[in-house]
Amino acid sequence: MKLTDRQAFEQYAERVSSDWAKLHDGSSWVFRVPIGEWSKSKGALATFDYLRLLLEESGLTYTLKRVGSGGWNWADPSVVVQGPNHPSILYANVTADRVPDLIASLKSGKPHEELAVGTFADTPVGNIQPIAQHPFFAGQKKFLTADWGVIDPESIEDYIARGGYGALKKALFEMTPDEVIEEMKTASVRGRGGAGFPAGIKWESARRSRAEPKFIAINSHEGEPNVYKDRQLIESNPHLVLEGILIACYAVGSNRGYNYVGGEHVLALERFRKAVAQAEEWGLIGENVLGSGFDVEVRARAGGGAYICGEGSALMYSVMGERGQPRTKPPRSVEEGLWRRPTMLNNTESIANAPLVIKNGGEWYASLGTEKSKGTKLFTFQGPLKRLGVVEMEMGVNLRHLIFDVYGGMKDGYAFKGVQTGGVSAGALREDQIDHPVDFDSLTSLGAMLGSGGFVVFDDTVCSVGFARYLMAFNRYESCSKCTPCRLGNPALTEILDRIRHGSARSADLQLIERTSKHVIELSLCGLGQVAPMPVLGMMRAFPEEWRQHVEDGVCAAGDCPMHARALMATAADG
Ligand SMILES: Cc1cc2nc3c(=O)[nH]c(=O)nc-3n(C[C@H](O)[C@H](O)[C@H](O)COP(=O)(O)O)c2cc1C
Ligand code: SF4
Repeated sequence: MKLTDRQAFEQYAERVSSDWAKLHDGSSWVFRVPIGEWSKSKGALATFDYLRLLLEESGLTYTLKRVGSGGWNWADPSVVVQGPNHPSILYANVTADRVPDLIASLKSGKPHEELAVGTFADTPVGNIQPIAQHPFFAGQKKFLTADWGVIDPESIEDYIARGGYGALKKALFEMTPDEVIEEMKTASVRGRGGAGFPAGIKWESARRSRAEPKFIAINSHEGEPNVYKDRQLIESNPHLVLEGILIACYAVGSNRGYNYVGGEHVLALERFRKAVAQAEEWGLIGENVLGSGFDVEVRARAGGGAYICGEGSALMYSVMGERGQPRTKPPRSVEEGLWRRPTMLNNTESIANAPLVIKNGGEWYASLGTEKSKGTKLFTFQGPLKRLGVVEMEMGVNLRHLIFDVYGGMKDGYAFKGVQTGGVSAGALREDQIDHPVDFDSLTSLGAMLGSGGFVVFDDTVCSVGFARYLMAFNRYESCSKCTPCRLGNPALTEILDRIRHGSARSADLQLIERTSKHVIELSLCGLGQVAPMPVLGMMRAFPEEWRQHVEDGVCAAGDCPMHARALMATAADG
C-alpha cells in the first residue's frame, strides 16, 4: 500500500475513516481488549484468547480488537464493549474466568453492571454512570492519550482512520519548516524529559545550525524506576510518536531520526519498529514522502539497561554503538551530537505533542496549562494507592487532587505518609505540603520537582531513612564512575545512611550528609551526580524528627531499619 502523493493519502484517509465510523455505528458488536506490558502481566492475553473462543461460538456479529492500554492500568485486564443497544462500556478486572459471565450477560441483552466501570456515552446505561464522572477520568484532558484503548497500536490503518498523519501532511504541504518551528514556539512545549527546556527553541537552534547532515534523536530510554509514561505512550500509540519525529525532521532539516528505547521495554520497541515498517510501506517514510520532495529515514535503537544512557550526551554515544557515558558541555548536542553533527534531542512525550500542535495550532496548545507550563502532562503514580496507571492532566493540577481523587487515595489499611517527587532526583513531600499545583516551577520552592512526572506515594510503614537509602543506592549503582565526586561521593553517602539505619551513627553524620551532598551536587559532571543526593536531603527536610530519632535515640519508628530488628532481639533476650 504505497501512498505516492497527497491526494492518494487523502483518499485513503477518507476511506479508512468511513470504515471506522461504520464499524462503530452500533449495528454490530465491537470488543476491545487493551494489551500492554502491564495488562499482559495481569492476564489480558488469556482474557483475549478466551473471549475470541467464546465469541466464535456466540452467534453474535462482532469484531474483536487488540488495542493499546487505556492508562486505566488498575482496571486491567479490561474489555471495552460496544454493540446494538449497548453504548460503549468499560469493564474492569475481566480475568479469563469472568469472560463467560460477561458474554452471557451481553447475550441476554443486559450490560454486566458488576464489572462495569462506566460508559463512554453521555448518559447512564441503567445503573452504569458516564465514565466522564468517574474520578479517574473526570479531570483528564485526553489529547496525547485520545486514542489509547481505542486503536490497535499495530495498525497504521486505525491511526490514519482517527486523523493520524494529518499533521504531517499539513506540515509538508501547507507550512514551511520555519512556520512549523514558529508554531512549536507559540505552543511553548517544554521538555518532558525533566529539564523543561522549550522544544521550539531547540528545534530552531538545530535548524539554524549550518553543519550537515543533521539528526533527530528521541529519548525513550526511561530507565528511572517507577516511571512508565513513555513506555506506555509508545505501546499505546507508536504512530503518534513517529509522526512527531517526522514533523521534527522536516522542520529541522534532517533526513534521519533515531528513537532510543530502553531495551527492557520489549513491547514498546516491537511496536515502534512495526510502526516504522508500516510507515515505510505506506510511503510516509522514505524518498519523496507523499510526493513532497521530503526524504526521511527513521530507526529504533535499543538501550542496554544502564540508567545513565538516558542522559543526552551518553545517549548519543550509545546510539552510535559506543560506551554510553556523559561528556562535558559545550558543545551541546544541538551543535555536536550524533557523529559530531547537530542533533536535536527530545523526550518521547515532548515529540508526541508536535502533531497535536501542528494540527490544532500553537495557540490552542498554549491555552492549556499554566502561564509558564503549557499543555497537558502524563503522570504515573506508584505505591499503595487504590488506582494505578497513566493519566493525562492539564499542567498545574493540584497534587492532593491527583493522589486522593484521581488515584483514589490510599488502599484500605494504609495511611499516607508522603510522596516522592521527581523520580530519583528530588525531594519528598508530607501531607501538609501537597495542596500545591504540579508544573515545572511550582514544586521547586518545596525542594520537590515535576521531573518526568513519576511520583511514588508511601505509607507510614515506610521509613524515610530506608527509602532515602534505596534512592541513593540506585544513583550510586547507576553512576558511570567517570568523575570523582559522583563515583566516591554517592557510595560515601550510602555508607552514612547504612550507619544511621544500623544505629551506629553520630549527630555529626547528619551534617556530614549535608556537606558531602553539596560537593557531589556542585562538582559532578552530569545531571545524575548533580541531583543524586537530592532525595536524601529531601527526606531529611520532610521528616527531621524521624532522622533525629534514628541518630540520637536509636529508634526507627516505622520499624523498617536493621536497628529495629536488633532492638527486638535485645528485648527478647532480656525477657
Ligand atoms: C541520568 C539521566 C537520565 C536521563 N534519562 C532520561 C530519559 O530516560 N528520558 C528522557 O527523555 N530524558 C532523560 N534525561 C534527560 C535528558 O538528558 C534530556 O534532557 C532530555 O531527553 C531532553 O528532551 P526534552 O527536552 O524533550 O525533555 C536524563 C538525564 C539524566 C541526567
Ligand atoms: S556525575 Fe556520575 S554519572 Fe555523571 S559523569 Fe560523573 S560519574 Fe558519570
